[in-house]
Amino acid sequence: MKHFKKAVLITGTPGVGKTTVANKLARLLKAECIGVTELVKTENLVTEVDDDRQTLVADTEKVLKRIEQILDETQGLVIVEGHYVVDVVPVKEVEIVFVLRRDPRELEKVLQERGYKKNKVNENLSAEILDSCLWDAVSAVGSDLVCEVNVNNRTVDDVVDEILLVLNDELPRVVGMIDWLATLESEGQIEDFLKKIDLSKES
Ligand SMILES: Nc1ncnc2c1ncn2[C@@H]1O[C@H](COP(=O)(O)OP(=O)(O)OP(=O)(O)O)[C@@H](O)[C@H]1O
Ligand SMILES: [Mg+2]
Repeated sequence: MKHFKKAVLITGTPGVGKTTVANKLARLLKAECIGVTELVKTENLVTEVDDDRQTLVADTEKVLKRIEQILDETQGLVIVEGHYVVDVVPVKEVEIVFVLRRDPRELEKVLQERGYKKNKVNENLSAEILDSCLWDAVSAVGSDLVCEVNVNNRTVDDVVDEILLVLNDELPRVVGMIDWLATLESEGQIEDFLKKIDLSKES
């Protein structure tokens, strides 16, 4: 039986499916699951209100300490999910970081359905296109501990199965296979898409 470190992290741009996938994975593994956004809200681990975005700003120091405490108190594996999760889990506890990726055109639909304002949608689309969460993960823990998972046009079960195979070393950890700019370009949509994101800044 493979010896795991304490924490399996799931990250990605808002709307990619972190909470859905993490909950399912935790159920299958009978592991604890911490949603960082939920934890911040329920335990009020915030510093200030960011008026522009109308969201609470998490106090990453407080969140890190609290997660460290939960990891110490918990037997077995803990799944931690959130879009800045790599900043709030001690690196020494990290087994692997899964970065969920979704085609920006699909992500746009998810975020619009949530009723996000145009500038918030586009800020997140830019982050997905620029691989923000991937770079955050790689710079925090190194590329050996990171694996991208493409969730596009796939069921939650299928995504969770892939994660389980990677955890069992039956599939390799892959980084760098997703390039949304190249995808958009090959489908002749890059100009329109980038224009749309730029225009939003004026709205
Ligand atoms: N293959 C898939 N994997 C994960 N989620 C999926 C998948 N296909 C569809 N979804 C859907 O994507 C939507 C967004 O999922 P979810 O709320 O879990 O995202 P999130 O990354 O946790 O977002 P946030 O960062 O805002 O918390 C949900 O409606 C979910 O059911
Ligand atoms: Mg979520």
